[in-house]
Amino acid sequence: MNFTGKTAIVTGGCRGIGYSILHKLAELGVDVGFVDIASIADAQNTIEQVKLLGRKCEFFSADISNLNQAESTVRYFLDIFGHIDILENNAGVNKDFSFLD
Ligand SMILES: NC(=O)c1ccc[n+]([C@@H]2O[C@H](COP(=O)([O-])OP(=O)(O)OC[C@H]3O[C@@H](n4cnc5c(N)ncnc54)[C@H](O)[C@@H]3O)[C@@H](O)[C@H]2O)c1
Repeated sequence: MNFTGKTAIVTGGCRGIGYSILHKLAELGVDVGFVDIASIADAQNTIEQVKLLGRKCEFFSADISNLNQAESTVRYFLDIFGHIDILENNAGVNKDFSFLD
């Protein structure tokens, strides 16, 4: 697939699976925006790593479980990129319990 000129939003991109997806998309030539409940300080490492790949990387701090903040997120990235081609809904919580619990 040709990803040249595409843009993506990844939710929860500060760490873990979201970070890996963000990084891979940037490697493929995609300009990426990511939203995370974490602060700009926590996002800084991700931004620096992705920019090393020569792609745009923009961060928006928000809680995407809140509808108003989710809508603000989309508006923010649309203003920056003009279009959004890919959405990776990654953010979430993983609560592991043993079977007996
Ligand atoms: N790790 C696993 O084995 C596994 C297995 C199955 C599914 N998943 C799912 O994959 C996704 C990522 O998992 P992970 O292990 O990388 O998680 P993680 O906890 O390492 O990272 C999740 C990221 O999402 C952000 N986030 C969480 N809630 C948010 C919210 N409401 N708004 C904005 N950002 C938010 C966190 O700040 C964090 O940066 C999750 O949805 C998880 O449920 C993970």
